[in-house]
Amino acid sequence: MSTETGAPAKEPRTSAEASKVGPVGADRGAFGPAVAIRDLSHSFDELRVLDRVELSVAAGEVLGIVGPSGCGKSTLLEIVAGLRAESEGTVAIGVPRSPADRLPACALMPQGDLLLPWLSAIDNAALALTVAGARRGEARGRVAPLFERLGLAGFERSRPRELSGGMRQRVAFLRTLMAGKPVLLLDEPFAALDAITRAEMQSWLAGVLAEDAHTVLLVTHDVEEALYLSDRVAVMSRRPGRIATKLEVESPRQPDRAGAVTSAGFAELKQAALRALAGGSP
Ligand SMILES: Nc1ncnc2c1ncn2[C@@H]1O[C@H](COP(=O)(O)OP(=O)(O)OP(=O)(O)O)[C@@H](O)[C@H]1O
Ligand SMILES: [Mg+2]
Repeated sequence: MSTETGAPAKEPRTSAEASKVGPVGADRGAFGPAVAIRDLSHSFDELRVLDRVELSVAAGEVLGIVGPSGCGKSTLLEIVAGLRAESEGTVAIGVPRSPADRLPACALMPQGDLLLPWLSAIDNAALALTVAGARRGEARGRVAPLFERLGLAGFERSRPRELSGGMRQRVAFLRTLMAGKPVLLLDEPFAALDAITRAEMQSWLAGVLAEDAHTVLLVTHDVEEALYLSDRVAVMSRRPGRIATKLEVESPRQPDRAGAVTSAGFAELKQAALRALAGGSP
């Protein structure tokens, strides 16, 4: 388990490993680069959105981020991804990087699934590969085995409108994964789903992360989702968003989700997170 001050348990052993940007799941062990956000502030003209945010994510760790609507969560992910330049502060991915240098290290799953309606499910999932120059047949061949693993077998040729909400979210997640980036930035990945499908998707994502460790920043407004999936959870204040508190999760991503989220320890953490969200002390 990592802390903001101590050495992360899964820190890369060499700086070469730390800055390695290889395909996700491909021969990088449990290591990707660690992410360090230091004294980060951002304003849109006069509107201060993020206020001196300090966050570290160890290599292979999942950091959950919860906060009220409009506190700057999506802005934070866009800045880490390099899609937006910070007003102040630094972002390191392995090493400190400019926004342009962060782009190749991160895959962002934006809020809303944003699948292209005219492409089939498999071509949507393979988009990053075809954009990178792969032939369509080759790209489909690389994505196809994962369709089975994600419970999408038989729906390769379906258009997004022919898929359920949960299936669209899985295709969107697969597209993010296929980008082959070591850092995953997930912005409300299951927000559009009903409670039952959402719980299923959380178990499914826990399984994916157990098989392939990634360095993940997971934004959600669902405290239970954050506490179930994350090694640590950062709770943000209202805008301008700052980190109100950070909570450590003892045993995240347990196969028995229902058992995990109804345990006494989980209830205590949930209460602390909800208090912090409400503006009180955790
Ligand atoms: N491109 C932009 N130009 C100007 N203001 C923006 C822009 N993008 C976001 N904002 C403002 O920044 C603030 C934070 O927006 P952001 O989307 O980061 O919030 P959020 O925490 O992701 O909210 P939600 O939980 O509703 O998704 C909001 O007040 C929003 O209006
Ligand atoms: Mg948002």
